[in-house]
Amino acid sequence: MTEKILLVGSGGREDAIARAIKRSGATLLSVIGHENPSIKSLSSKYLLGNELDYKKIEEFALENSVDMVFVGPDPVLDTPLVNNLMKHGIPVASPTMEAARIETSKMFMRELMKRYNIPGNIEFRECFSENDVNDAFASMMHDVAVKPIGLTGGKGVRVMGEQLHSLEEAKSYAIEVLKRDGVVLIEEKVVGEEFSLQAFVDGKNVSFMPIVQDYKRAYEGDSGPNTGGMGSISDSNFTLPFLSRNARDEAAHIMIDIVRSMNSENTPFKGVMYGQFMDSPKGVKVIEINARFADPEGINVLSLLKSDFVEILHQIYEGNLQGEKIFEKKATVLKYLVPVGYGTNPKPGEILIDDKMFDSGVEIFYASVSGDMRRLKQSSSRSLAILAKGDSIPEASEMVDASLKYVKGDYYVRKDIGKAEYLQAKIRKSRELIGHERFT
Ligand code: AMP
Ligand code: GLY
Repeated sequence: MTEKILLVGSGGREDAIARAIKRSGATLLSVIGHENPSIKSLSSKYLLGNELDYKKIEEFALENSVDMVFVGPDPVLDTPLVNNLMKHGIPVASPTMEAARIETSKMFMRELMKRYNIPGNIEFRECFSENDVNDAFASMMHDVAVKPIGLTGGKGVRVMGEQLHSLEEAKSYAIEVLKRDGVVLIEEKVVGEEFSLQAFVDGKNVSFMPIVQDYKRAYEGDSGPNTGGMGSISDSNFTLPFLSRNARDEAAHIMIDIVRSMNSENTPFKGVMYGQFMDSPKGVKVIEINARFADPEGINVLSLLKSDFVEILHQIYEGNLQGEKIFEKKATVLKYLVPVGYGTNPKPGEILIDDKMFDSGVEIFYASVSGDMRRLKQSSSRSLAILAKGDSIPEASEMVDASLKYVKGDYYVRKDIGKAEYLQAKIRKSRELIGHERFT
């Protein structure tokens, strides 16, 4: 009998995780919030319901005697699910509620980095009153980012010069968050190219994946509102052409230090850790540390992973993560097809996929859609992720665009992601900002 792996989550990222589980030859069971046609078709059995209903998920795991559980989405990590499954003796390769605080409390993350003197931290103030907010604005010498402490789905953070156009606006947003949550985080604004580094972590050992860049803005040229992510790119050398020479190593060392400090505090982190960094003129800085695969960046790395994924889940749980994991040395470009109006006022409709799409050399990951594999009903979130692998980022980008002639319907997609001229512009801008000597 093959072993049974239970996956919680129903987005594009979870479709990629589901496929990695199947590639390992395991039997997949899933908990899905909507009828994702791909995850449904890969699952031997599924529970359709609220992904946050941890009691139901525990019952489902016990009834089906699953051998391992893996959690996709962050809100689930902020419930007692993982802790409770472990009490029942069920192996889980995702962090406990205490360890997930590295993501679920931005304050915990900044304080931990400060306590252990970990490089990459930035100036921050936690404000519990209007006085604190006034003091923070009076004493901080920088432009700022204003953040709720907890999970926001990527949409609660506002940055001066971007969503915030003046000090008054920044202050009034800080006070709005404070009134709602009782606390608000005000951080120094960092400038530079943003990148994601994901790693498998077993409590002590850390095994890194290729660097990916996520495109958060809704419209071409990185304009418009922030979204959950419109697409993502990775390169065949596992770093990116617009990052400085040492960016990957600096980020990796920061994550290793964080894992060590969590171990020293008796909240060892087991699971996938995803650091969001900025390559700034003052070195690599931490924007966020997350306790899961990123979406979409998780899809890029999982599509390259050659090592056995289920074996890695066991190594994470058992604390014996061994060696470098193997990733295909290809560039990837992923573009999300989203409903028209996504980011402001989404208008869900339908998407039709021609049979030729399935032979066009791209991979199609199903996100917030239902229906069958070819005729899809959209919801207000992202619909389909189209991923291509190539020898270069621009080649992969062109492959995704070429495949789109086989997809009809009510969607919007950012064509600019991964295009050659756009990458060149990023390289020029980054070199100017950081200094040519920090590039190879
Ligand atoms: P987060 O939800 O923390 O990932 O923030 C969403 C986006 O806001 C990030 O991807 C960054 O582009 C931006 N951001 C967050 N914190 C900062 C900061 N301290 N400085 C500049 N930009 C930031
Ligand atoms: N790529 C953004 C996120 O997963 O949070």
